[in-house]
Amino acid sequence: MLPEIHTKIPGPKSIALAARLAAHECRNVTFMNKDFPVFWLKAEGNNVWDVDGNRYLDFTSAFGVTGLGHSPPEVVTALTSQATELIHGMGDVHPTELKVAVCEKISQMTFERWNNAPAKIILGNTGFEAIESALKTSQLATGKPGIVTFENAYHGLGYGSLAAGGMKRFRDPFLPQLADIGHSLPFPQCTCGQSLECSAECLNTLEPLSLQLRNTLQNSQVGAILVEPIQGRGGKVVPPSGFLPMLRKICDDTGTLLILDEILTGLNRCGHLFACEASGTIPDIICLGKSLASGLPLSACVGSAELMDQAWPESDGEAIHTTTHLGNPPACAMALASLDLHSNPALASQVQERGQLLRSMIETIDLPTRGAIRGRGLLLGLELLTVGGKPDRATGTGFVVHALKNGFIVLTSSPEGNVLSLVPPFDIAEEEMRSFTNCLQEYLAFSNT
Ligand SMILES: Cc1ncc(COP(=O)(O)O)c(C=O)c1O
Repeated sequence: MLPEIHTKIPGPKSIALAARLAAHECRNVTFMNKDFPVFWLKAEGNNVWDVDGNRYLDFTSAFGVTGLGHSPPEVVTALTSQATELIHGMGDVHPTELKVAVCEKISQMTFERWNNAPAKIILGNTGFEAIESALKTSQLATGKPGIVTFENAYHGLGYGSLAAGGMKRFRDPFLPQLADIGHSLPFPQCTCGQSLECSAECLNTLEPLSLQLRNTLQNSQVGAILVEPIQGRGGKVVPPSGFLPMLRKICDDTGTLLILDEILTGLNRCGHLFACEASGTIPDIICLGKSLASGLPLSACVGSAELMDQAWPESDGEAIHTTTHLGNPPACAMALASLDLHSNPALASQVQERGQLLRSMIETIDLPTRGAIRGRGLLLGLELLTVGGKPDRATGTGFVVHALKNGFIVLTSSPEGNVLSLVPPFDIAEEEMRSFTNCLQEYLAFSNT
């Protein structure tokens, strides 16, 4: 469905709700200005409606959660039937069959597919909880507290994730409370055009990083390397194709764990069931979240059963890591339905195809403010630069507002806020992409005059 043009955004109901929210929600949570936010009322497929009746095409998949679209019928059925049975259980004391089934399914889709060996899983609610379960696993398995992460990584905002690493703007206000466990190294960027096989020249750029990494591992008590296969919030940065295999090799040589944060890149978003599969890299631990349950909070720290059993002792009745809502029944029911849909191999090819189409449409926009088009599958980013080649945050934020008025929800990313994030649902239609790129082209032409 093509988007609608809205003359008055935000509408009167959104404006009134913003005033009420500002009175009682802590500052710094919901961003508000004269153009923001619109309050959502309902969503279906690729579309969202706000409280004033305006419809938008969602080019964000709502933070990468709704790759399968908003409210896929199979997931809604799973949720509604579960809602009348059991909404809340006692996840780590008296669990449900659903929790069993979700763990089995995740195991089948990861380590059983990769290694023919079972996985063991710690479920969580939000993404950063999965990361923190992985960090705890690293400590228990290796006895070493240190974690190598990469500049501009985003692993969530819990204290464990922040202690490991991440963007300065999220860490700096809380530095005095963060444990000193992180070793941050530069994240390498593909320079040859981001095919699945980089050129020899591009691969050679990894050499200094390899030395730096080996040096860090030799001189510090590092238990694990934590990395996103493609940096999402960091600006859709794709590393050279040899990067993950290089990390795998270094981890194998040094007895370090490789933790992949696939909270955003996993579950077909990048045109493979998991992004690491593009380079045939098998992690020790993979973290999942976001689209796992297509809309209710559910995350998973997934490791080989061998590693997880080595790290975690049997519970003596008091689990040393759990949460009240662990294995929430409706979230598990939705996850099972979502994972069934994600298991269809045709979905990965569909994402590759549509991602290629969207990329080629963006490539035809030939204007001075366009930098690199980055990313893979339907996790794409358009870097916006000034005519002088500097990060152009203003054009990014300007377009986000312009797009909203033209019926598109879109966001920016990267530390400088100058990368337009293109993260649409997987069945985004050609005409929907075309209308979006036309809107972008018009805006960029206008902003350059
Ligand atoms: C790669 C990655 N890891 C972790 C997280 C944190 O997930 P959550 O916001 O659910 O805690 C995010 C969220 O954007 C993410 O993109």
